[in-house]
Amino acid sequence: MTQAPFEQADSLRIGTVDFVSPDEINVTVDIEAPESVALNAGGPRPFPRVNGYLLIPVDEALLVGQVEWLSVERSAFPKRRGMRDVGLVDLPYPLRKLKLNPLGTLRAQTITGRYVFRRGADALPSVGAAAVLPTETQLRSIVESGERRRVKIGTSPLAGDADVSVDPNRLFGRHLAVLGNTGSGKSCSVAGLIRWSVEQAKNSRGGTPNARFVVLDPNGEYSRAFAKDDPTVKARVFKVNPGEGERALKVPLWFWNSAEWCSFTQASARTQRPTLMHALRCVRDGHTTPPADASHEMRRFLRTLVTCIRIEQNVGGPWGAFPKPKSFFEKLEKWKTGLEPELGSFAGDQHAKLQALVNSLDALCVPRRVRYAHYDFTRQEIQQLLTTTSDAHSAFGGTEADILLADVDAPRFFEGASLLRSVEAAAEMFNVSEHVETLLLRIRALLTDTRMRPILGSAADTTLDGWLTDYIGSDNAEGGCVSVIDLSLVPTEIVHVVTAVIARMTFEALQRYVKLNGVTLPTVLVMEEAHTFIKRYKDDVENQDAATVCCQVFERIAREGRKFGLGLVLSSQRPSELSPTVLSQCNTFLLHRISNDRDQDLVHRLVPDNLRGPLRELPSLPSQSAVLLGWASELPVLLKMNDLPSSQQPRSDDPEFWGVWVGKDDAGEPITRDTGWPRIADDWQAPAAGGPEGNA
Ligand SMILES: Nc1ncnc2c1ncn2[C@@H]1O[C@H](COP(=O)(O)OP(=O)(O)O)[C@@H](O)[C@H]1O
Ligand SMILES: [Mg+2]
Repeated sequence: MTQAPFEQADSLRIGTVDFVSPDEINVTVDIEAPESVALNAGGPRPFPRVNGYLLIPVDEALLVGQVEWLSVERSAFPKRRGMRDVGLVDLPYPLRKLKLNPLGTLRAQTITGRYVFRRGADALPSVGAAAVLPTETQLRSIVESGERRRVKIGTSPLAGDADVSVDPNRLFGRHLAVLGNTGSGKSCSVAGLIRWSVEQAKNSRGGTPNARFVVLDPNGEYSRAFAKDDPTVKARVFKVNPGEGERALKVPLWFWNSAEWCSFTQASARTQRPTLMHALRCVRDGHTTPPADASHEMRRFLRTLVTCIRIEQNVGGPWGAFPKPKSFFEKLEKWKTGLEPELGSFAGDQHAKLQALVNSLDALCVPRRVRYAHYDFTRQEIQQLLTTTSDAHSAFGGTEADILLADVDAPRFFEGASLLRSVEAAAEMFNVSEHVETLLLRIRALLTDTRMRPILGSAADTTLDGWLTDYIGSDNAEGGCVSVIDLSLVPTEIVHVVTAVIARMTFEALQRYVKLNGVTLPTVLVMEEAHTFIKRYKDDVENQDAATVCCQVFERIAREGRKFGLGLVLSSQRPSELSPTVLSQCNTFLLHRISNDRDQDLVHRLVPDNLRGPLRELPSLPSQSAVLLGWASELPVLLKMNDLPSSQQPRSDDPEFWGVWVGKDDAGEPITRDTGWPRIADDWQAPAAGGPEGNA
């Protein structure tokens, strides 16, 4: 390769520019240019080819164009280069034309002799400029542009099988969406990206990398892709009914926050939600343990009163429409009769403040005890009552912080049975007992369901730090870099809540990590079948169901995860059903075959016009091929993903009909499949193991 650049350029020349506009360059291909394979570019390479690259020398640099289409024009005579032979009669001749999309410029670095690719064209060529084939080195520079390409994920067939490598900081740092039809290779790509990244990091570090991947796996495919005894990529598998080497999936109900509880129990906004919130706050503060003495008990009671009055004030009950004020009046009566007998137990300031409270309750009630009373309260009356109550609360040692700090969402341990009691007590206090029956029923059903109990756990078998160590990973990822959370056997009623809880706990743990350490703990959260868990929802529904709450968690992660080192990888076959918020926060896309119109439209809108070339190939991509575009890739590149040996592939869930029909698999191994219905029937009808969790 000692050719002078110009000489070489001349030998690689394949055509002439004959039309130029800012977004389109047309080239007439020389007659002597290769027909199907170019041999002059340092190795055989298909040419011309849609989505292939061509260069046009402009000034000091090379303009890079991508072939959008090719066509043949019948020309009256061949436009041969050089002198035309005047004596010859030229016959009509098929003339090849192609259209190029300008993508960017390639500049040679004088010192290293390498090329640097940059997006955007500084200058456009003029008509008559030459179009040349890129050399191997140039092609590589286009595909491999960008820095810190550390992990090889595949090769680019359009660029002479140049390696396609990515920078993990870019790939995982700003969320990645893997989209494509069923069977197009998404799961393999996701498993591969994790494996190749970990392997490469392992080589660079010379030991287990300090990496964390949490895979939420609704189909139960990934446990196979990361075998437990795999020496390179160690994984922990969490599952309902764990097999050998796997662990039981635990998402204790005391992890659930108030939104998750409300969505699961479908608590009504008016009465049930405030009651449930209050009950949760109480159990999380350990209020179900008996108070130490009478004064302590009174402090709690007064605290509840303060909270309760504030809630009423906020929802406007006391001056709302009938019957709200009447029910508020009934509450006051109840509080008063509750307090009166206690007066005698206290002395001094405590007695005085309590007496003042009873008096002011009485003052509010007396005028409303008459027949045909007017129940409306004024804002001043309620404010006055609140002040008196707060005073009494302080007299018993309560502080404002007591009331404000009670975090309804903190994952503090409580038992299911305590929550039930707490809801009953709160309902009593709020005088809404008859309105919370359905709420209690749902909570009771949850606690007694034998399918859910193993997951929601009870007792002290799970601690918060233990859970975080297991599910997110330990110091230096000693227990393995990947945790696979198999959701396939989680009952459908709770699968959304469980997923939301795991995702949120991961996010909040990392958020707190940053708060306490000032640095992030980079973690990747993978969500398979994202269209069921991150599904677009209607914003106006008042009662938010579990799917909505789940989607909102992921929206929050998509918006804020980056700040806390949490990267999202989502995989879906129905991109058009995904939450637009989440999708718009994904900065990198790995697109597999997509044949559906709506989904294609959607992905087309992700990229500017001139970069859409490779996306046109989406409907016809073979599995294992994909287009990588966005933040992690300077240009959309069409790539063939690395080969993943079948033992490392996620289990595809296609049932083996033929093999079972004919009694042997493709390799000739016999397949037997007995029905064994009696065993199934027994299992189905078996009485619940153990009694329901104590609902005393
Ligand atoms: N990187 C790869 N290496 C080897 N085989 C692959 C690869 N990607 C896809 N395949 C093949 O394609 C099939 C479908 O891939 P899969 O990941 O299950 O698709 P999807 O998750 O999109 O439904 C796999 O069973 C496998 O045979
Ligand atoms: Mg899949």
